[in-house]
Amino acid sequence: MSPPFRSILVTGGTGFIGSNLVRRLLADGHRVGNLDKLTYAGNPKSLADVETHASYSFFHACVADEAGVREVFAAFKPDQVLHLAAESHVDRSIDGPLEFVRTNVMGTAVLLHAARDYWLSMSEPAKAGFRFVHVSTDEVFGSLGSTGHFTEASAYDPRSPYAASKAASDHLARAWGATYGLPVIVTNCSNNFGPFQFPEKLIPLVVLKALRGEAIPVYGTGENVRDWLHVEDHCAALALVATRGIPGETYNIGSNNEWRNIDLVRELCRHLDDLQPRSDGASYQDQITFVPDRPGHDQRYALDASKIQRDLGWQPLWSIDDGLRSTVQWYLANHPWWLASLDGNYRLQRLGKL
Ligand code: NAD
Ligand code: DAU
Repeated sequence: MSPPFRSILVTGGTGFIGSNLVRRLLADGHRVGNLDKLTYAGNPKSLADVETHASYSFFHACVADEAGVREVFAAFKPDQVLHLAAESHVDRSIDGPLEFVRTNVMGTAVLLHAARDYWLSMSEPAKAGFRFVHVSTDEVFGSLGSTGHFTEASAYDPRSPYAASKAASDHLARAWGATYGLPVIVTNCSNNFGPFQFPEKLIPLVVLKALRGEAIPVYGTGENVRDWLHVEDHCAALALVATRGIPGETYNIGSNNEWRNIDLVRELCRHLDDLQPRSDGASYQDQITFVPDRPGHDQRYALDASKIQRDLGWQPLWSIDDGLRSTVQWYLANHPWWLASLDGNYRLQRLGKL
């Protein structure tokens, strides 16, 4: 396959962001390999529309299994790697932190180790174009007060086991760049929303709880602030970073959409009232219930993404209003998808409460 089309190995490609990314990269004409363990968060139905695509291959493997990872590199021969596979939910990291260390820390080290050997075996031109894009989170920077933004230069201050495991993985990725010369790029992104998000996360959880007539749980006072980005804008940024990002650099990805949780939940209820009114005529807002706070709950995230806008020309395309409304519509239209996600041990119950 000749440039600009590339062979791109996505890890975690069956998850929320990964499945949106796989679909985007295939639409852009790339050959895509998806290395995924299919944990509770990996729903194969998320890729049903592309699973027979001629340019798509699936590899059922764990990023922490060195032999398995090496086999995938040998079989797929990627030009680039986009590493998303991770345990991603903060509440689950409170209940079971060790799986986060195994996958996010050890898994990233194993993947980097295998990627480096593979990269060394490449021809010089292929080696020059190789990129290892490590996909991370703004949570590594900790918690903000009422003012200020995280920049690429902000100090690391992770506070949950999830955030700490992602911070460790960022350090490993940069260490492989500095020590071995592997062309590593790190991205740190704010809260994503959109289609195919597992319903443990706030936005799909609110929609499903509302539709089922159950209490909509808001942690603490609901005044914590998150900075929301549509997943398709994140995927566009990742595709751009893989093409034009500079090895050794870090890029923050976010779109200046800060919301207090309680305001976001009310906004989702407003969309639901409009799109699928309750049979009794009342508002879904009546179901909002304040519940005990998340332990160690970070107060506020806000990301300064001016670097990726300035250096790579990325701009988010989704407005928050269109994005939220279309996300609500997607969950209303895709019952079979989310019902399949609720098929295991998870039934929208509270997680991460000590
Ligand atoms: P997700 O939980 O929806 O999906 C994770 C995917 O990784 C699943 O398909 C799962 O099966 C796979 N996986 C888990 N452990 C694995 C292992 N050991 N080996 C191979 N595959 C494994 O996660 P997401 O929300 O799509 O997040 C993807 C990445 O983006 C993560 O690295 C996360 O830290 C990062 N991120 C997420 C957000 C967000 O708001 N969701 C924001 C910033 C960064
Ligand atoms: O900032 C990026 C991060 O965003 C990603 O790295 C994580 O993978 C992703 O899960 C997300 O983390 P959050 O903890 O911010 O997302 P979550 O959807 O779990 O919670 C969003 C906010 O809503 C947070 O302040 C906690 C609150 N919340 C969450 C749930 C599940 C509630 O009030 N009630 C809930 O039931």
